Amino acid sequence: MMKFIPFVAVACFAASAQAQGQVNVICSVQAEWCNMIGTVYTRTTGTKINIAMKGSGEALAQLIAERDNPKTDIWFGGTGDPHLQAAEQNLTLEYKSPSLPQLHGWAQQQASQSQFKTVGIYSGPLGFGYNTELIAKKKLAIPKTWNDLLVPALKGEIQVANPASSGTAYTMVATLVQLMGEDKAFEYMKQLHKNISQYTRSGTGPIKAAARGETTVSISFVHDAPGEKLNGFPVETVTPADGTGAEIGSMSIIKGARNLDAAKKFYEWALTPSAQEMAAAAKQFQLPSNKAAKVDRNVPDFKKIKFINYDYAKYGASAERKRLIAKWEKEVNSLPR
Ligand code: F6P
Repeated sequence: MMKFIPFVAVACFAASAQAQGQVNVICSVQAEWCNMIGTVYTRTTGTKINIAMKGSGEALAQLIAERDNPKTDIWFGGTGDPHLQAAEQNLTLEYKSPSLPQLHGWAQQQASQSQFKTVGIYSGPLGFGYNTELIAKKKLAIPKTWNDLLVPALKGEIQVANPASSGTAYTMVATLVQLMGEDKAFEYMKQLHKNISQYTRSGTGPIKAAARGETTVSISFVHDAPGEKLNGFPVETVTPADGTGAEIGSMSIIKGARNLDAAKKFYEWALTPSAQEMAAAAKQFQLPSNKAAKVDRNVPDFKKIKFINYDYAKYGASAERKRLIAKWEKEVNSLPR
């Protein structure tokens, strides 16, 4: 028995030395931001970041699959609903950051309603994107309300993501259910289905397609358009006049993280104003959750948008999210177009 002690001690030491050296991150924001985080954090702290990029729904699926043997330390970004679902399923670790009081109320609420297993790092409103050149060329009206997306002239002209893989699309489903009531929302989505050319895997696919003229209209987070515009693409956005939802982009530490200390250090860094301001430097224009972070002028003006009173707890609950996605697959996605 005694013989094993030195070996165990050496093994523990090796594990903790390694623990300080790296952090494994699932990153559910756009590649530009993930890459900037990776480069800056590694350069300034010496800690190596291994980044895997995944949409919100896909990230959750991976964490469920890894449950018994987690390979991920931190899940950075992506819509808040699947982070709440991960918290409920005990996939993520309770952690109360000392920086919480520096965050906006919505970000703190995301933390408290998950028993501090996740936290809000940014927010952004859902709306429509459109290619300004295509819409003019095809003489189409700019959609201003949800019902405007149903006009026959938009048949095959709209893209949105698939809610099973994309938090953006799930935010749309949950927004419509809250705005219209469930029966009317599903009737609406069945009608909308006729005008959809493609359900993409990633939530940002449709705005990129609109920017590049591959679709005329997209259903997207409106903060994802200014970056495309800055890259020279003819794309604009509107938020529906009848009301819309917003995401609370979130961050969670994974339960059983192998590099827990490094994960906590990264988490604290990600809540600082300077780390959050990096989003705009990477042409990503979500509203930062730290109240002291500078708000870039390209960030959508929340005061000008009509928001529904989005029930994050209800629509982030596992059973509700699973139920709505399954219903969407069965009643909407299976219909011919
Ligand atoms: O990174 C852009 C973004 O719109 C985020 O604001 C959001 O959390 C994420 O994409 C959602 O991605 P997806 O819809 O693919 O899960």
